[in-house]
Amino acid sequence: MCGIVGYIGPKEKKSILLDGLQELEYRGYDSAGFAVISGGKLSHFKAVGKLANLRKKAADFTSEGPGAAIGHTRWATHGKPTELNAHPHMGAFSYVVHNGIIENYRPLKEELEAQGVRFLSQTDTEVIVHLFEQKIREGLEPFEAFRATIGRLEGAYAILLISEAAPETIFFAKNGSPLLIALDGEEIYFASSDTAVIGKAQEAYYLEDGEYGYARPGEVRLYRPDDEPKALTTIPLPSDKAMAQKDGYRFFMEKEIYEQSTVIGDTILGRVLDEGIEFEELPDGFFDGIASITICACGTSYHAGLTGAYLLERMARIPCRVEIASEFRYKEPLLSPDTLFVTISQSGETADTLEALKMAKRAGLRSLTICNVDNSSIVRESDAAILTRAGIEKGVASTKAFATQVMVLWMLTLHLGQKRGTLESATIRREIDAMRRSPSALLVEEKLHERIHRLSKRYLHGHGFFFIGRDLFFPLALEGALKLKEISYLHAEGYPAGEMKHGPIALADAELFTIALMPRTLLYDKIKSNVEELSARDATILAISPEEFELADDFIRTKHAEHPMLEFFEMMVVTQLLAMEIAIRLGNDVDMPRNLAKSVTVE
Ligand code: M6R
Repeated sequence: MCGIVGYIGPKEKKSILLDGLQELEYRGYDSAGFAVISGGKLSHFKAVGKLANLRKKAADFTSEGPGAAIGHTRWATHGKPTELNAHPHMGAFSYVVHNGIIENYRPLKEELEAQGVRFLSQTDTEVIVHLFEQKIREGLEPFEAFRATIGRLEGAYAILLISEAAPETIFFAKNGSPLLIALDGEEIYFASSDTAVIGKAQEAYYLEDGEYGYARPGEVRLYRPDDEPKALTTIPLPSDKAMAQKDGYRFFMEKEIYEQSTVIGDTILGRVLDEGIEFEELPDGFFDGIASITICACGTSYHAGLTGAYLLERMARIPCRVEIASEFRYKEPLLSPDTLFVTISQSGETADTLEALKMAKRAGLRSLTICNVDNSSIVRESDAAILTRAGIEKGVASTKAFATQVMVLWMLTLHLGQKRGTLESATIRREIDAMRRSPSALLVEEKLHERIHRLSKRYLHGHGFFFIGRDLFFPLALEGALKLKEISYLHAEGYPAGEMKHGPIALADAELFTIALMPRTLLYDKIKSNVEELSARDATILAISPEEFELADDFIRTKHAEHPMLEFFEMMVVTQLLAMEIAIRLGNDVDMPRNLAKSVTVE
């Protein structure tokens, strides 16, 4: 996730920005930059990699005296992590930093290019600064030019813009991405998260969607989405930085579970269009000549792959097999060059997945990775990459990365289904509609969380957990069991519900906890009879379903029963919260469970 810091005042601006950005490091980034306007003159610095590189580049630069400054840490989503793609983006006399995604940047860019504007970067952000400058050239006052600019933008944004056309001023706007204004007397700070300004200012205003305005020394002018002025009513800033980094949640994992609804919106932005799915990152003809798919991954990413295989075979009608990377490497697999080799990795650094990819490449296979980290080893090694846009994931137990991987696989299915002509247009419309409703299926309702918290106290013992599901809900059962064992250290297994009677049912008794995933839209009657078999053997059953199930000992009712994937996402959240609440009750460090590492770079 990108970070933003801004400052208006007389102090040394470089250090304020760099220190503020340092506080946002925990959010992850792959390049950084800042711009200062002081004495009417603009200066800027950018560097790829850690902030230390930027500090080094700007070592001889000082910027004391009245002025304004904006800084940014970038997590690449559109375009590689290069210096040109790093923020601030510049026009002829202005600079902009931006978090979020400008969904309609392509038509805007074409329009500006037709007017002779030359673009330097591959980002969506750059359109903002050029639009602003075009408006100035058309004769608008700077603030009117800014207002007109944001009026053209669609998508999510937190924006800061400075310009020689209005020295000592920062123009700001927020829609969908966080932004706050913090005050310390005449000095004004901006940040995407309060960690960056704690200790510097005492009070802050957290902008609401659609709000915008400008600030100059000692003055902030704020406007509502309907262009009416609004008073800036500040509240005291929190004092605990660690807590602020977690946005007030107890653990990063909890924060990341809550973030899923937002990041899934980022994953589909600009890709899920009315007429179908588009991946502008994939070269033309990328799928030509492909007759089958092999997906290869580890852990949670492997579970995402299993989910994807159900979707790809069912809807895109393409043969798809899924391999655990550590097994694939040594099984001497038969590989055919008309197979697309798809790796899935949150970190992009998992050694087994990387080596499997190299093997497939040596065998002449085309490769695609679904990854969360641009410029990671797996991205660099692959022929093409689709970034999941989950932002950095700090919790060792993967949550939001899984959700976004599954979403990309679902989009890929539709994309391929369209190309291969396997889907009716009514089906495509139905899938697109469901994709757009996914953020709401991923929202954590307070009441649900509270219920899971209360239920969790009954599940702290027993001789084991079985998570069971069928079809798409089998990989979700595997993932639910993995989450639970990773952080609670309790034994848990995921099983296809129909397989229980072929052996595992022998374990059934009151101390065997069964978490039954019972969606309405996929094989409900089948899973119901499997759960009845377990209930008849006195297993303790926690049913997760939109349908009341009388034989369940505990029941969590889900709401989104109109599409299997919406049921999938909603049940996924329930299993994540359940694992977390059990682990917290057992006193475990949820973010850093014993024996596990976030990135497994050894075999
Ligand atoms: O970074 P990757 O997605 O390649 O990592 C793969 C696994 O190591 C990872 O998913 C692991 O299973 C997580 N701890 C799951 O929560």
